[in-house]
Amino acid sequence: MLIRIISDIHSNFDALEAVLADPPGSKASATFCLGDIVGYGAEPSRCIEKVRDVCDIVVSGNHDAGVVERTPLDMFNRPGASALIWTSTVLSDKDKVWLSSLPYSAEFDEFFLCHSFPADPESWVYVLRPGQAMSSVSARSDSISLIGHTHLPGCWTADGNYTDSAKGDFSQIRLVNAGSVGQPRDRDPRAAYLLIDTERRTWEHRRVEYDIDSAVEKIRNAMLPAILWERLYKGR
Ligand SMILES: [Fe+2]
Repeated sequence: MLIRIISDIHSNFDALEAVLADPPGSKASATFCLGDIVGYGAEPSRCIEKVRDVCDIVVSGNHDAGVVERTPLDMFNRPGASALIWTSTVLSDKDKVWLSSLPYSAEFDEFFLCHSFPADPESWVYVLRPGQAMSSVSARSDSISLIGHTHLPGCWTADGNYTDSAKGDFSQIRLVNAGSVGQPRDRDPRAAYLLIDTERRTWEHRRVEYDIDSAVEKIRNAMLPAILWERLYKGR
């Protein structure tokens, strides 16, 4: 079974559309979303509608939780909090109820899905160092964890080794970060997503060009902080 994993869309509908149109991912029989549908970008409602329509499993990210006050806004930096306050003014009540209903984790087959830190999904800890990866793996010892949050596509082994290879198999890998659809931070501005093949037990990090100018124009028109559009060109 081919599964498409998207994460950290961040209200960037241009990037989301491009990812969903990428031919290898279009063959997937299921699509899972690892959270942060909203925040930073200018099209939260369109992104929520598309994710609700396309995804079979959706878990909450910290921005999804922040906009509906499940997570306090003082957990966010200033531009992030500004974008969430703006987002809450443009979302419908239906969208907010749906965001409030999202679980913080989910399981499918041998996979454990959450936005940030498998050892404690509601803590919003960033898995950036070997110790955090190893505690995640030992907390979910029967599973392979799929996460987002750092916006850095990559994989970890049980003993804390990291790789940012584009593809590989699950013989050693126990934790995979899907990267970010709408705000990549690995110095590659292309949208990122993940494909996994459950029969072959392989993973592939895909990158997709999208119309960055279009996403930027919408953020500027919404009068959101400049850093939120400037970084889309840099991919960081
Ligand atoms: Fe994010």
